[in-house]
Amino acid sequence: MWGAMLAGKKILLIIGGGIAAYKVLELMRLLGKSGAGIVPVMTKAAEEFVTPLSVSALAEAPVRRALFSLEDEAEMGHIQLTRDADLVVVAPATADLMAKMANGLANDMASTLLIARNKPVLLAPAMNVAMWENAATKRNAETLREDGCTFVGPEEGNMACGEFGFGRMAEPAEIFAAIEAHLLDGPLRGKRILVTSGPTHEPIDPVRYIANRSSGLQGAEIARALVALGAEVDFVTGPAEAARPEGANVIEVETALEMAAAVEAAGQLDAAIFAAAVADWRVANTSDSKMKKLAGKAMPELELIENPDILATVSQRSNGRPALVIGFAAETNDVIENATAKRKRKGCDWILANDVGGARPVMGGPDNQVILISANGAETWPWMSKKQVAEGLALRISEALT
Ligand code: C5P
Repeated sequence: MWGAMLAGKKILLIIGGGIAAYKVLELMRLLGKSGAGIVPVMTKAAEEFVTPLSVSALAEAPVRRALFSLEDEAEMGHIQLTRDADLVVVAPATADLMAKMANGLANDMASTLLIARNKPVLLAPAMNVAMWENAATKRNAETLREDGCTFVGPEEGNMACGEFGFGRMAEPAEIFAAIEAHLLDGPLRGKRILVTSGPTHEPIDPVRYIANRSSGLQGAEIARALVALGAEVDFVTGPAEAARPEGANVIEVETALEMAAAVEAAGQLDAAIFAAAVADWRVANTSDSKMKKLAGKAMPELELIENPDILATVSQRSNGRPALVIGFAAETNDVIENATAKRKRKGCDWILANDVGGARPVMGGPDNQVILISANGAETWPWMSKKQVAEGLALRISEALT
């Protein structure tokens, strides 16, 4: 509903020389679809990885390359390029480009534009892990942060060079989300919101665990909808199959205890939404080695102890309680009565209740039907996609917080 609304915005896109430059073609496609205008600039090294022809075709604009080009300057002087842009994006931001920026060098078109800019800049670094972890690069990144630059990525993963570690450029969708967050003045700008999502896994022994069928889709969609409205989102997720939301700060956990600790560590929040299907119990007598099935021996007995109720703990905080705390209630009968009682018991502001006992599957399915329970009573929403539920909820949250 709110994504893809960058019509009229202009991005000065500086493409550095790295293998990740090919991913920038996809970023340009996403920007084009959202209506944003692109002014592409390529370093000489970038041309070794992608051709100026493909870049200008996707940008629907000529590529700026040389600093002293009579043709380019006649069309538009290089200083004017940053004056006309809303945001400068450097992707891939190579170690070399970062070093030039941090030290104020201006010996080609890209670095000259970067020093002459009067607009915010977003960097998507991409380089080999040793280059990213090199002391000089670290110093440069720190300097650039102090200078007010924003970073998206790099991420951890396999690299084109065959090594593994931090240095992979963020995926195009994630860079796009960061651009959107910069440019859209959403109603939740400046608000910090935490979302828990997915199942938890409670270990029995090193290979077995207790889990549930939560896919984590509803929580991920809620986080996405909040990011789209400009919120700064902490997304604490158990081992869920749903794709992680772009633009959110993703914190991966496994057990309920780890989830509780991550929520505690998040600090001061404006709102917290507990969409995770947290296991109510964990195994007290976990085994350090794999439990063996021995002939003639009785089945091992699992001793269960209750997990902390994260929603109730946050709802009942005497100090620093978020202004809005939202829980979920999956019920199989007397949905409204049970969920209304749950809202009181836990001490949260709203409960999104759903009937998981009906013929239409909610857990693991793409759709949901929720009842929003607040101090004002129960409001039944029609069946819709989990994405639509998320967008509706995000809108209500922004009304409540602003
Ligand atoms: O009590 P019940 O599990 O039905 O409550 C569901 C709500 O409480 C959900 O919002 C869920 O995320 C939250 N919850 C929690 N910590 C637990 C159990 C549930 O945050 N240990």
